[in-house]
Amino acid sequence: MKIKSAEFVMSNSNVTKAPKDRIPEYAFIGRSNVGKSSLINMLMERKDLAKTSGKPGKTQLINHFKINDEWFLVDLPGYGYAQVSKKKRQIFQFFIENYFKEREQLVCTFVLIDSRHDPQKIDLEFMQFLGENRIPFCIVFTKADKLGSSKLNKQITAYKKKLLNYWEELPISFVTSSSTGMGRDEFLNFIDQVNED
Ligand code: GTP
Ligand code: MG
Repeated sequence: MKIKSAEFVMSNSNVTKAPKDRIPEYAFIGRSNVGKSSLINMLMERKDLAKTSGKPGKTQLINHFKINDEWFLVDLPGYGYAQVSKKKRQIFQFFIENYFKEREQLVCTFVLIDSRHDPQKIDLEFMQFLGENRIPFCIVFTKADKLGSSKLNKQITAYKKKLLNYWEELPISFVTSSSTGMGRDEFLNFIDQVNED
């Protein structure tokens, strides 16, 4: 897929105020700092379309981007960030959960996982939540540049093996790096395919 246009539409904390267009929507979710906003910039080949930071907790709202005037990409706040207050974390959780439950345009969610990390409870629980709400999801392994190729393969194989303890079938997965552009073509081709179906 060629990216002809990528524009920021709006940010909000209330899914009922999100754009009304009935076009396919794809959301990025995962732990704070896993690289959601960076991946959006890499895919769109735009340096600052989504705001990124070395510090976790940068993205705090639901951010809609319209791509090629045909579909939405949504950048969400990360979960599992211990530094925010309990109250704020509950507010986040509430509007993120509502987003997933209410957003009818959502066709696929990308759950981002840092390639270096072993499976963590919070990610497995989030996938469980998606499953229970019948929300299709794929896994995106991020920051692949931070591991050598044999270590990377080993980590990903081990991750998938663990997932099979919870899921009968493995979700589709991608291996990406926002630094090198790894995985970009596969990812965009996948979206192209889904948009055509
Ligand atoms: P929150 O908005 O806080 O939830 O974080 P996020 O998931 O949007 O992460 P963000 O894209 O802001 O990236 C966090 C940090 O990881 C930044 O310092 C990025 O430069 C770095 N980073 C993201 N992706 C990659 C990658 O593929 N490779 C490397 N080496 N660094 C990355
Ligand atoms: Mg972010």
